[in-house]
Amino acid sequence: MRIDVVSIFPEYLQPLQLSLVGKAIANQVVDLGVHDLRRWTHDRHHTVDDTPYGGGAGMVMKPEPWGECFDELLDPEDATGTVIVFPTPSGERFSQAIAHELAGVERIIFACGRYEGIDRRVLDEASSRVRVRELSLGDYVLNGGEVAALAITEAVVRLLPGVLGNPASLQEESHALSQGGLLEYPVYTKPAQWRGRPVPDILFSGHHGRIAAWRRQQSAELTAERRPDLLQP
Ligand code: ADE
Repeated sequence: MRIDVVSIFPEYLQPLQLSLVGKAIANQVVDLGVHDLRRWTHDRHHTVDDTPYGGGAGMVMKPEPWGECFDELLDPEDATGTVIVFPTPSGERFSQAIAHELAGVERIIFACGRYEGIDRRVLDEASSRVRVRELSLGDYVLNGGEVAALAITEAVVRLLPGVLGNPASLQEESHALSQGGLLEYPVYTKPAQWRGRPVPDILFSGHHGRIAAWRRQQSAELTAERRPDLLQP
């Protein structure tokens, strides 16, 4: 999979070189390009923003640098396998289901906005050329799309074949679709007693059926308590 990230703070994407995503890059499962949007500016100050038409607080990202950026990054012959992701608090809520969808595409381009957002025409024009997703990490406002690009990249790359050491762990974790969208049950390891706290007896029973039932019960209780919204039909 090819991943490009466009940002005015390319250093922000440095963590992608670490850990699991870093290994996926080293193993050529992922081909990563990080680009400074200012490369597609032509004025002395490398301006990427301007005041909003209609007034209001803050600045808006100008369309021209983004337009030229996509002209260069998109293959005019074949961009059918490409999705441009615009991280934004007004996007659709990112989810494990969307991570699975994105894990199936050939190429993702993250367009990281800053300030009050990107001129709408950039998204409209991009939509006429490739598939576009506006995605939000959650109901809070970040200063820009970079942290969301990091989070989405990590969630997607770990789903790619050959990236996780033990693919079975994908099946069990919170929000895995096979868990029926329930939160993950609590987990324990050695020692059996720690600071006066024992591991639940059931986990020593060796009875796989009962352990699985206990875990399902724990998942259901945790989900009801913390995320009742996940239990809605
Ligand atoms: N950019 C700013 N806030 C964001 C959020 N909550 N999710 C994704 N991108 C963002």
